[in-house]
Amino acid sequence: MDKVSIPVSCCEVGEILAEDVLNEWGIILVSQNTIINQYIKNKLIEMRIPNILVYMPVSLQSYSDGDMKYNEVKKNYVEVVMSVKGILNELAAGGKVGYEKIFTVSQLIYSSVNESTSLIKCLAEMRNIDEYTYTHSVNVAFYSMLIAKWLNLPEFKIHEAIQAGLLHDIGKVKISDEILNKKGKLTSEEYEVMKKHSIYGYDLIKNMSEFSDHIKNGVLMHHERMDGSGYPYGISGVSIWLYAKIISVSDIYDAMTHDRVYKKKATPFEVFQMFLTTGMCTLDTLVLKTFLNKLPAYFVGTTVELNNGETGEIVYVPPHDIASPVVRVAKKYYDLSSINELKIFSMI
Ligand SMILES: [Fe+2]
Ligand SMILES: [Fe+2]
Repeated sequence: MDKVSIPVSCCEVGEILAEDVLNEWGIILVSQNTIINQYIKNKLIEMRIPNILVYMPVSLQSYSDGDMKYNEVKKNYVEVVMSVKGILNELAAGGKVGYEKIFTVSQLIYSSVNESTSLIKCLAEMRNIDEYTYTHSVNVAFYSMLIAKWLNLPEFKIHEAIQAGLLHDIGKVKISDEILNKKGKLTSEEYEVMKKHSIYGYDLIKNMSEFSDHIKNGVLMHHERMDGSGYPYGISGVSIWLYAKIISVSDIYDAMTHDRVYKKKATPFEVFQMFLTTGMCTLDTLVLKTFLNKLPAYFVGTTVELNNGETGEIVYVPPHDIASPVVRVAKKYYDLSSINELKIFSMI
C-alpha cells in the first residue's frame, strides 16, 4: 500500500498509521497500523508531532473492498476450520498425516497474510464456530503466521510456521477423551499423560520427509520454556527451535483468550499483562516483544465492557503500557493506567 506523509492537523479520523510515531527520545507514542481517531489526533497535536506517515487515503471504492475483505477472511477461516476438522478426525480414526492436505490448508491460511486487520478481528470474533480442538489449531497457525511475518521471516518460513502451528497439538489424538475433555483440573497422573502429546505429535510426523526438522522440532518443543520450566525435556534458551518459540506465544495467547470448561477466558489485555511479567522469563524475548509491539494497536476501535458496568470504545493503546488502554464512554475518557480499580471486564 502506498504511504504519504501529512501534517497531523490535516489527517482524517479513520486513516491508518503507516509507521510508528516516536517522541523526541525515540519512545513509541502510537504504533504502526493504528486507526487514527479523534483522541489520538488530539494527543499528537498536543505532543507537537508535526507530520505522520499514513497509508494513502482510502477511496469510497476501497471502503467497500474493506468490507468485502473481512467477509472473505471470515469465509476463508471457516473453510480452514472445516478442513482441519477433517484432517484431525481422519488422524484420530487411525489415518496418517496427509502432507497434501496440510499444504492446502496452509496455502488457504497464507492467503490472509496481508489482511492483518480483518484477520485479527475475525480471530477475536470467531470463538465458537466449532470445538476448541479444531479452532485452537487453526488460530495458533494464524497467529504464528502473523508473528513470522512481523519477524520479517522469508515467505517459505512463514509457510513452515503455519504448518507447525497447525500440527502442534496433533499428538492429542493419542490422548483419551476422558483426559482431554475432563471438566475440572487434571490429577498429576493425568497431567503426566497429557504432557506426552508433544512427543506423540512428533512421532506422527518424524518420518515424513515433506516436513523440515524445523517444523518437527516446533511440534516437539512447543511446551518447552526459555527458563527450562517446560516439557517434555526441560531444555532452555537457544536449544529451543524458532517455530516452537513462536507457537508458545500463539498457543498461550489463544488458550487464555478462549473460554474453557474449567476456566473463563481472559481479555487480551490481561494476557498482555501476564506476558509482560511471567512471560518475559519463560518466552523468547524477541518473539514476545514482536507480538506485543504489533498486536495491541489492532484493538483500537473495539467495544468493551468495563467492570463498572459501562460500555465504551478503546481509543488508544499506549505502547509503553499496552495492558492499560484508554477507553471512551460517551464523552468521558478513562485512562486505565491511572485508574487502578477500573478494568476491562469483557470484549464485545
Ligand atoms: Fe500443546
Ligand atoms: Fe495448543
